[in-house]
Amino acid sequence: MATRKVEFYRHTVGADELASLKQTVDSLFLTLGPRVRELEGALADYVGGGVEAVGVSSCTVGLFLTLRAFDIGAGDEVICTPMTFVATTNAVIHAGATPVLADIDPRTGLLDPAEVEKAITPKTRAIIAVHLYGQMSDMRALRGIADRHGLFLLEDSAHGIEGMRDGYRAGHLGDAAVLSFYATKTMTSGDGGAILVRDPECAARLRILRNHGMSKDAAARHGGTYQHWDMLELGYKGALTDVEAAMLLPQLARVDAQRNARQCLVERYEGLLRDEPAVQLVERSGRSTHHIFALLVPVEQRDRVLRGLGERGIGCAVNYNAVHTLRYYRERLGDQNERLPSATDFGRRTISLPLWPEMPEDDVDYVAQALLAELSES
Ligand SMILES: Cc1ncc(COP(=O)(O)O)c(C=O)c1O
Repeated sequence: MATRKVEFYRHTVGADELASLKQTVDSLFLTLGPRVRELEGALADYVGGGVEAVGVSSCTVGLFLTLRAFDIGAGDEVICTPMTFVATTNAVIHAGATPVLADIDPRTGLLDPAEVEKAITPKTRAIIAVHLYGQMSDMRALRGIADRHGLFLLEDSAHGIEGMRDGYRAGHLGDAAVLSFYATKTMTSGDGGAILVRDPECAARLRILRNHGMSKDAAARHGGTYQHWDMLELGYKGALTDVEAAMLLPQLARVDAQRNARQCLVERYEGLLRDEPAVQLVERSGRSTHHIFALLVPVEQRDRVLRGLGERGIGCAVNYNAVHTLRYYRERLGDQNERLPSATDFGRRTISLPLWPEMPEDDVDYVAQALLAELSES
């Protein structure tokens, strides 16, 4: 049994969040109210570029609501990357549309714009790019393709708000970008999400769709005498709450400092692993959020290494086995391994190592040495 334990992830929620939560608990509103608006304003200011933020209950819900806001549904195809968490493609199916997978660039794990172009049919309505591990997709190329073919471009930015590429942030080039505040993300309230969107009409519709289709939310109805509300369209229960926003506001203030701390740890990992022939580092360009530190090992060693690291007390993950290799999608889409060789291979070889902002450097060294030892054994 291992005596040393290195967790895969540790959150940094603490005294600042407790103070902010107390302020909300002592106030009138716990659900969609002033703290959600405050967070939405702070997220919009952080991203800049005329983007508005709409707080939602998760990234999954945010992706779904955005597809609904773009009136994407039955008969429509949405091009997605297979190197993602199932939430991306599930949201497309929940909206009634069909996910069409396009292959990735094997060096970065990101959607390959040339493959996207090949996957376009007369039914294609949208592309969803995923900023895998926090490295932004090639949004300039994808925006060009979307414009040429009259498609919506969505960003699954569950892996953080702090990324930048070619001077653009999430929400600048996509028609919408969706953040996740799930328990392991770079900012967390346990669960939660936000949609970044530039079109004010779309933002207004998303605010209606996240709240049952109601014309006014509770905070807007509060004060003065009773106000009737109307139901404008069939909406959903999908808003962020003031309790969640209260937890997130202090984290947004330190999101860059924490990202920089993760970058130092990633550089340390890479320095220790770069010369190992059995390790392939994932290529990056621009400013990654460094949400996840993933690398590739030989396919025949991957599962053995995962087990060995686990036995040494090291928390690891696989982000991700490619979507089309999972049973539901195999049954729904048929065998896509030959169509998607790069994603199939990437998904079989990837391992994510422990990373969080306050991770001791000594733990990085321990994990890297353990990985090298496992690779030489198996
Ligand atoms: C790439 C990606 N997309 C979407 C999601 C879903 O986020 P949420 O749990 O907030 O719905 C995740 C969460 O892990 C993710 O990693």
